[in-house]
Amino acid sequence: MEPIDKELVLSSKEIHDRIQELGKEIAEDYQGKQLVVIGVLKGAFVFMADLVRAIPLPLATDFIQVSSYGSGTSSSGQITLVASPAQPIADHHILLVEDIVDTGLTMRWLAKHFKEQGAASVRICSLIDKSERREHSVTIDYPGFSISEGFLIGYGLDYNEQYRNLPAIYHLNL
Ligand code: IMP
Repeated sequence: MEPIDKELVLSSKEIHDRIQELGKEIAEDYQGKQLVVIGVLKGAFVFMADLVRAIPLPLATDFIQVSSYGSGTSSSGQITLVASPAQPIADHHILLVEDIVDTGLTMRWLAKHFKEQGAASVRICSLIDKSERREHSVTIDYPGFSISEGFLIGYGLDYNEQYRNLPAIYHLNL
């Protein structure tokens, strides 16, 4: 693999510490509820694995995959459902777990999708909130970090399917 020009944005420890806080907050809010945590593939798979282990509650896990980004760093503006969760959604409390909310297109579509399926509630946890780039309004109930600009890689985040395995989050200098 070619060496890449990257700068550290969030260390593994910073990510870990924030996830413990998020897990605590989520556990307080969902006590006694039928929680289904649904990760948005592929970007959220690393975050999801750490987040669910920080939520000390009985819960079900599943994944959904949609395509909105082509290759590279720009959105195509269209959402297509690629793979649906197998867990029942109706009357369950859904927590969507996302890597980054950028324009908000994906999360707005997904929140509507799960409400239409009869979810008792739909909330969003996103590791990174790029709120300054928002084009579609969406409430992030559990935001990890707010980062205003730049293309990020690592900890599940890719550039052309590479770099998801980096243990921390970096800014990619293109
Ligand atoms: P949105 O629909 O515009 O909010 O885009 C959200 C999706 O775009 C995220 O789930 C990521 O897959 C992708 N994305 C947005 N910004 C970045 C980035 O900086 N690095 C990697 N993927 C990104």
